[in-house]
Amino acid sequence: MSAPAIPGIERVLFTEEQIEARLCEVAAEISRNYAGRTVKLVGVLKGSVFFLTALARHIEVPLKIDFLGISSFSNKSGSPGVVRIAKDLDESIEGDDVILVEDIVDTGFTLRYLLQNLAGRAPNSLAVCTFLDRNSRRIVQVPVDYRCFEIPDRFVVGFGLDYNQLYRNLGYVAVMKPDKG
Ligand code: PRP
Repeated sequence: MSAPAIPGIERVLFTEEQIEARLCEVAAEISRNYAGRTVKLVGVLKGSVFFLTALARHIEVPLKIDFLGISSFSNKSGSPGVVRIAKDLDESIEGDDVILVEDIVDTGFTLRYLLQNLAGRAPNSLAVCTFLDRNSRRIVQVPVDYRCFEIPDRFVVGFGLDYNQLYRNLGYVAVMKPDKG
């Protein structure tokens, strides 16, 4: 696929076909690991919505979904990583086999907070599935059980990831030009 005619986009990193193929692999792995159980996918708004729904369609065990909304900001001293829940889950996860679904893991601050928070609600199990992993930006170590793609330290959009709230609906993942993001 050639670079799309969208301002600010440098090149396609993963095509729709590559994403679909990888989603099938990860969904098959999840289906095997959760055979005989019901899995609850917990998505983190907004970025994970596109990935979660696409992934869910390929998972072959009984499945429920729920969503969390978060806000993250720096504290008074300018340190990043302060995360709060802005929209809580609709239902309890006590006793559930939960997979927390993210579009991207960067510093790990969001995931660390969410894992601590969700673990306190007594799920039967708690795993992490992320569409993208930008491990080069990690500051705190967090467990990632399923990842679709490792990406370089570049600003990317598409398949749920945004630039000023735009481009989430692209079917592919693209790298923004260096002066963007
Ligand atoms: C992204 C992503 C994670 C978080 C990861 O959310 O969805 O929640 O950042 O970053 P971290 O590992 O550095 O904590 P974002 O704030 O872009 O919100 P969005 O999903 O609504 O786009």
